[in-house]
Amino acid sequence: MSERVAILGATGYSGRELVERLRRHSRVELVRAACRQDVGKNLDQVLPGAPAQPLCSLEDVDFSQLDTVFLCLPHAASAEWGEHALKAGCRVIDLSADYRLKSAELYKQVYNLDHPHPERLQQAVYGLTELHRPQLQDAQLIANPGCYPTSVLLGLAPLQKAGLLGGLVVADSKSGVSGAGRSAALANLHGEVAENLRPYAVGDKHRHRSEMLQQLNGAADLLFVPQVAPCFRGMISNLYVDLPEGDVQRLYQEFYANEPFVKVLPAGDIAQMAHSRQTNLCVLSLHPMPEQGKLVVISTIDNLVKGAAGQALQNLNVAKGWPETEGLL
Ligand SMILES: NC(=O)c1ccc[n+]([C@@H]2O[C@H](COP(=O)([O-])OP(=O)(O)OC[C@H]3O[C@@H](n4cnc5c(N)ncnc54)[C@H](OP(=O)(O)O)[C@@H]3O)[C@@H](O)[C@H]2O)c1
Repeated sequence: MSERVAILGATGYSGRELVERLRRHSRVELVRAACRQDVGKNLDQVLPGAPAQPLCSLEDVDFSQLDTVFLCLPHAASAEWGEHALKAGCRVIDLSADYRLKSAELYKQVYNLDHPHPERLQQAVYGLTELHRPQLQDAQLIANPGCYPTSVLLGLAPLQKAGLLGGLVVADSKSGVSGAGRSAALANLHGEVAENLRPYAVGDKHRHRSEMLQQLNGAADLLFVPQVAPCFRGMISNLYVDLPEGDVQRLYQEFYANEPFVKVLPAGDIAQMAHSRQTNLCVLSLHPMPEQGKLVVISTIDNLVKGAAGQALQNLNVAKGWPETEGLL
């Protein structure tokens, strides 16, 4: 029998990506695609080029008829709807930040909100698939990582796991404007984004920094400068770390040798956004600079795929014990 699935927030950028992938997935039936403002329409009437998926209201979703619910909602709304789904016995895969941090105090500090269900924070498995695969098997509540953390943490993991990360990591990251979602904002207008490169939240003020520090678990400090790039989708993180001894190219190639969605480029090649666009790949390149004692790691993903919908589906595949690449190639 097919897995009965719903998407809450199907008219958002990440929701749309998920609709397309779930409709092609052979083991899934997309039973409900929900939103607030466009109820009764088909998705292609809201987002031209999208599938003609009928849209219902969130209130019309009967969680007792579902196996898995994807939350493509803003934070706070996710925790509210996630609770309904969890109580009905559904598996929940949340793309927002509501279940990523382990401490309710930190959540309040970072998001300026009291978490409505702090008891869920310990239950949630952080869904950076490559690093948490054993815990994801059969998990009921999965916190899909942020897009910036996915690009940064996969770029650092081989060093971190080998105990070779330390000091200060500088993450200089650029995202396509879709990273901010579809809600209207002056800063995201074409006229503001085109032919521009806009740093924001400079001074370690971006919320994703806390998520990354939690996962780095004291291995290194992090200086993070996010920027909006003049494109719709894509993400690239240039990571500057202390150069460890040994063959880092080999370390990374061996660490990711069996990963279907992480590709380490041959020495000398340089990763760029085009390597990962429209794919679930994280593409890495390594650039040792012995004279400066530094290693530059370049990590690129598509923020809407590996950074959001693709990784969410990858996590469902792992949770269910299905082939991990199903619906993603
Ligand atoms: N975009 C990315 O690259 C990316 C990457 C990783 C994670 N995320 C996270 O994934 C989530 C969705 O992001 P997105 O970019 O897809 O967002 P988005 O484009 O702004 O879409 C948000 C969706 O949620 C619905 N919605 C908005 N406010 C709501 C509320 N208060 N209650 C119920 N429904 C509401 C919207 O429907 P209506 O328009 O009908 O209200 C829409 O369907 C966010 O938490 C975001 O931080 C996004």
